[in-house]
Amino acid sequence: MPRAPDRGTLDELKAAVGDGSWLDSPGDVAPYVVDFRRLYRGATPLVLEPREVAQVSAILKVCHRDEVAVVPVGGNTGYCGGATPDDSNSQIVLSLRRLRQVRHLDAANYSMIVEAGCTLAEAQRAADAADRLFPLSLGSEGTAQIGGNLSTNAGGTAVLRYGMMRDLVFGLEVVLADGRVMSGLKSLRKDNTGYDVKSLFIGAEGTLGIITAASLKLFPRPADTATALVGIDSPQHALDLLARMRTAAGDQITTFELLPRRAVELTVKHIAGVANPLDQGADWYLLIEFTSPNSQQDLATLMLDQLQRAAADGAVKDAMIAASIAQSQAMWKLRESVPEAQRHHGASLKHDVSVPVSSIPRLITEGAALVARLAPEGDVFSYGHMGDGNLHFNVAQRPGTDTAAFLGRGKLLEHAMFDLVDGMGGSISAEHGIGRLKTKEFAERADPVELSLMRDLKRTLDPRGILNPGKVLA
Ligand code: MLT
Ligand code: ZN
Repeated sequence: MPRAPDRGTLDELKAAVGDGSWLDSPGDVAPYVVDFRRLYRGATPLVLEPREVAQVSAILKVCHRDEVAVVPVGGNTGYCGGATPDDSNSQIVLSLRRLRQVRHLDAANYSMIVEAGCTLAEAQRAADAADRLFPLSLGSEGTAQIGGNLSTNAGGTAVLRYGMMRDLVFGLEVVLADGRVMSGLKSLRKDNTGYDVKSLFIGAEGTLGIITAASLKLFPRPADTATALVGIDSPQHALDLLARMRTAAGDQITTFELLPRRAVELTVKHIAGVANPLDQGADWYLLIEFTSPNSQQDLATLMLDQLQRAAADGAVKDAMIAASIAQSQAMWKLRESVPEAQRHHGASLKHDVSVPVSSIPRLITEGAALVARLAPEGDVFSYGHMGDGNLHFNVAQRPGTDTAAFLGRGKLLEHAMFDLVDGMGGSISAEHGIGRLKTKEFAERADPVELSLMRDLKRTLDPRGILNPGKVLA
């Protein structure tokens, strides 16, 4: 069991990083003790901001020896409280933000080695400068850091084509709980030498080791892009259109995002500069993007042809294909501003769930029935990554209703929603992780054998339980 650091330990930790790389005044540590959604407020006696891997190793050696808990943090954009210390004022916060070098980029090998504190946008820009694409794409990419993307196995809006963060990794450098450094930064497409150890640290939310750098996969940059906003009547039409588009365009479909009418209306209302470009209102909208590195593909014509055929079959009500980069950016702004619009609108209950893509229409129908029964103060606000079977099945408080009553229904609704998802062979956390928020539900629902293996791994890699205690496995 970790314990509170004494004065000597704190001084040693400060010395490990040197002056200018630690914070301990209440004002300075304040941003590190609250999570992005403000669900959790903790306390810490010390925030460390190392500049080198050797300093991370030195910190962990001290913390391991003295049994002091360490909470790693990147851009602090997570939704499940995974990077926030508890309120005991005994957990050290370890910020990776100053480890932000692009160490190496090998354009011919389509790979780059970046440090954990690079923002996702910085990593994307580094790839772009070498005429390559790093495809992970998220609304929070200007702030979210690579270490956090890895630790939560982030998803986003291009998973359909490129996979999640786990799929984009060749190798990792990880500092273990006792300070040893695992140097696994090979950039190989083939390497069958034993167990896939790096995989353990991806999605582990800093509970098994501290990721300090990664070798990431790069791809050809798109030379042709077609983006469309499409109005449809129902999620079943979205499913039909997805199948049609996949047959026609194969893996050139990069994005297939679903938005309900309510999300579009609220985003137009609350976010400056956002408009709905479609003439006719629709109950549901899709943001669809095709990309190809081949500039001769004429993806806009391919997309138009498919949309016209779908319209003739009654599956599409209205559609617009972006005729300029500005129009495409406006469509993306509409999609990416939905979470912010929801924040402006008021309180919400969030469920980041996934089911087989074919079950999305049923999830929406049965989930809406649960909301009507268990949280009548709320409007269903389910949007997201239809192409991946991942919806943010969120519920927004209806104006004029009682906030406390609405939020008070959260646990019951969540439990019922997770039962529904479990019954459909789905996941209670598709892309946002477990953090602190879902530890109980996770422990109750995980396969018992798999869960006991996870606990064994935790004990092996972190025998003193100092790495991000209380997260994932509580
Ligand atoms: C998104 O897809 O917009 C993000 O995962 C954030 C959210 O769920 O609000
Ligand atoms: Zn999402």
